[in-house]
Amino acid sequence: MKKLTIVANWKSNMTSGEAIQWLQEFPISQIQSHTSSKEIVICPPFTLLNQLKWYVTEKKLPFQIGSQDVSPFPRGAYTGEVAADLLKEFVTYSIIGHSERRKYFHEDGQMLANKVDLAHSSDLTVIFCVQGANTSIPKGVRVVAYEPVFAIGTGEPDSPENAESVARSISDNTQVEMVLYGGSVTEKNVSSFTKMEHIRGVLVGTASLNPSSFAQIIANA
Ligand code: PGA
Repeated sequence: MKKLTIVANWKSNMTSGEAIQWLQEFPISQIQSHTSSKEIVICPPFTLLNQLKWYVTEKKLPFQIGSQDVSPFPRGAYTGEVAADLLKEFVTYSIIGHSERRKYFHEDGQMLANKVDLAHSSDLTVIFCVQGANTSIPKGVRVVAYEPVFAIGTGEPDSPENAESVARSISDNTQVEMVLYGGSVTEKNVSSFTKMEHIRGVLVGTASLNPSSFAQIIANA
């Protein structure tokens, strides 16, 4: 059976108090039987990485931690940036190339390739977001999330059949080993994506902010 990867992208949400409440309310018993077949990754804002890492380690929760972005520069005089080398103290995964980064922060192919290189130098697993089968994918990327812009935060997911055909095309034509789907994933529709042959997991935004919905997504995937 294929191992699935289920990623929560909290985006710019959650205070430390809200994150603790999320963790306390998360119905861990509901996902206990799924943790050997599903890798669960939580990507909080930078401000919560330290706290989340501490909590997950202390309580032995079956979660990996990821960052939502990584600096295109190494550590040094880059005010406001967080280098991969600093992130690796807290995370094992990094999302790179999310469409919101491309749109609001004008991130281009060269910048994304620099981010990927630095993340790999720090041994982080990159989850590289693409908006379609033709988005260019930097060298060395093994995990891609197909996230069509029309489906993000709209409640209008892509069809599982179309997502599967994009995932198949990426798997057949690149060195990528794993394609996830993201865009309006909920507990109701998750299995329609994860049952597809070339879709190996999901990237969840809005529905991951609610601990019971996210647990249900893990259970239903
Ligand atoms: P959504 O976001 O689940 O709210 O559509 C997904 C994403 O942007 O990663």
